[in-house]
Amino acid sequence: MSDSPKMNSSLRTVEWKNNKVIMIEQTKLPNELIFVEYDDFNQVANAIKTLIVRGAPAIGVSGAFGLGLAVLQSKATTKEELLSDLEHARKILFATRPTAVNLGWGLQKIMEVAQSGDTAEQIRELVISAAKRMADEDIEINKTMGKNGAPLFDDNDTIMTHCNAGALATVAYGTALGVIRATRESGKNVKVIATETRPIQQGSRLTAFELKHDGFDVSLVPDTAVGYSMANGLVDKVVVGADRIVKTGHVFNKIGTYQVATMAKQHGIPFYVAAPLSTIDMETKADDVIIEMRSGSEVTGIGDKKTAPDGINVINPAFDMTPPELITGIITEKGIAKAPFEESIKKLFQSNS
Ligand code: MRU
Repeated sequence: MSDSPKMNSSLRTVEWKNNKVIMIEQTKLPNELIFVEYDDFNQVANAIKTLIVRGAPAIGVSGAFGLGLAVLQSKATTKEELLSDLEHARKILFATRPTAVNLGWGLQKIMEVAQSGDTAEQIRELVISAAKRMADEDIEINKTMGKNGAPLFDDNDTIMTHCNAGALATVAYGTALGVIRATRESGKNVKVIATETRPIQQGSRLTAFELKHDGFDVSLVPDTAVGYSMANGLVDKVVVGADRIVKTGHVFNKIGTYQVATMAKQHGIPFYVAAPLSTIDMETKADDVIIEMRSGSEVTGIGDKKTAPDGINVINPAFDMTPPELITGIITEKGIAKAPFEESIKKLFQSNS
């Protein structure tokens, strides 16, 4: 095990190389930076389910790459056979995680591209090139989002973030952390407070890791110190990512986001969400969004160490909903939505030419 695994800015969290999918094995971070290589879409589905890859945009692209593997695995010689094999793979990939809308979005985009092909061979080429394009576009979108968000932050701000909405949650650069990176690139000096993000510590394992690696002044706080930090003037602004935003501006993100937003409101601290349009779901109502419930074992222990009595009941929702009245603005690649959100979100899509 290496003491300080090294990332570099050209590293991609998920990548298509030589007809294989390469991913950073995120469950091993921050202790080991290792890559896994897959040639079977079932392996990609398992990687999404077990959080080897996680974060809404990263699982969207992973789903698309999974379909890329599926077209190569299929022995189909006709369009109809190949579409049927692809549909089988889509269902397996889609069933892995229910809350982040980017997964369904990515799969749907690739299925539409596949339908447009005339022959099995053409579909194979179209699917793979569309998935690769989706990965490249993810980085461009994050950089544009960063530029849009940077003016909202001031020189010497301390910015709190929750979970990991960074390079590791996307193909590269990040959404919320992309905004923080772009703020620094615009010449401002910023500090970051990262919440630990129990139960599986995306904040300490991933956000603290990637920001420290990039030379940010980053401090880690336990989730229970959010109120303390805000009440004691340690936080100027908050920016988080999102797994799904519905048209009314309700934001679904990592469990604990609602508490951070409520505290921010209590202390008059601006609370921003950074997410691409692919995270906005204009169809589903807030009440109908499925919150993933994860295994109790994530809460009854840390790593291999048991921290709760045997047989204890556990409630372990992976996400929560932050209502629009707690949100100052939603930063996207098409601009910033503000209240009334229903109207401003609609406008973002109208400008999406
Ligand atoms: O369970 P995870 O680690 O996939 O949850 C990730 C988050 O909640 C992120 O904040 C969200 O996906 C935004 S990522 C750019």
